[in-house]
Amino acid sequence: MDVIVTGATGGIGSSLVRQAVESPEIEKVYCRYRNQEKFDSFFGTDHPKIITEKYDASCHKEDSGILKVLQKEPPRSIACVYTAFSISPIKRVGTYTADEIKENISINVLNLVLLTNQLVQLKQKYKTQLRLINIDSGAAYNPLNGWGLYSGAKAYANMYLRTVQLENPDIKIVSYEPGVVDTPMQEEIRRTDKAVFDRVNQFKEYYNNKMLRSPDKIAEDIIKRFILSWEGTEFKEGYEIK
Ligand SMILES: NC(=O)c1ccc[n+]([C@@H]2O[C@H](COP(=O)([O-])OP(=O)(O)OC[C@H]3O[C@@H](n4cnc5c(N)ncnc54)[C@H](OP(=O)(O)O)[C@@H]3O)[C@@H](O)[C@H]2O)c1
Repeated sequence: MDVIVTGATGGIGSSLVRQAVESPEIEKVYCRYRNQEKFDSFFGTDHPKIITEKYDASCHKEDSGILKVLQKEPPRSIACVYTAFSISPIKRVGTYTADEIKENISINVLNLVLLTNQLVQLKQKYKTQLRLINIDSGAAYNPLNGWGLYSGAKAYANMYLRTVQLENPDIKIVSYEPGVVDTPMQEEIRRTDKAVFDRVNQFKEYYNNKMLRSPDKIAEDIIKRFILSWEGTEFKEGYEIK
């Protein structure tokens, strides 16, 4: 089994990469990231199992280094975990700039759609067994003040992947709900002004009361249940951590 992690330097993403590299059952780990320095400081410059692609998801780019490698050496099976995602900007609708909207939709929607399309093509051409693992959020189902772009993108990802599942019963797809996890995304949420995000104090309390989940635990759960084995039989939202 090979694994793609789309946001390899993020909280959950970097835990996934570290654990995937250590797993003898995972052969190659394809890493996408936007910051080379950060990536090198996490994983070094030379790891035999890692294949890298510096990729700024805010810029639309159809050409993918990872896809080129995969087309040259199609794996028997590959799992893609979509961890590249942005909650920025946390702002009320009516205050976004056009560039902010475009950037968020490019990172959160366009790239997921584009990469999934390419992976389904790979599966069709080379009979690669494909697993797609989305990281779900309660925000996909419940609106929150200031989170419009994020919530909308999360809901989009679920419906898009449900369609992929409908069209491709042979692909294993899951939308995994991790709960509230101690990552840079949560730091950003806690920095929000209360006038924009009225529930910010609740998120500060989660943090102060040490209620956040560890990204290592989430990565371990994903690898165990959806990469090294498979708990789902069809697309399902809201798989909770055990
Ligand atoms: N943390 C939570 O409580 C929570 C709850 C529910 C769902 N999730 C989901 O879990 C997934 C992982 O998030 P996380 O919590 O680990 O947050 P995170 O640490 O902020 O990770 C987000 C990732 O997206 C990458 N990214 C952002 N903008 C990018 C761009 N323009 N180009 C390329 N990569 C970009 C980040 O890269 P950099 O490392 O360079 O910043 C990082 O790798 C996301 O889908 C998130 O929605 C998180």
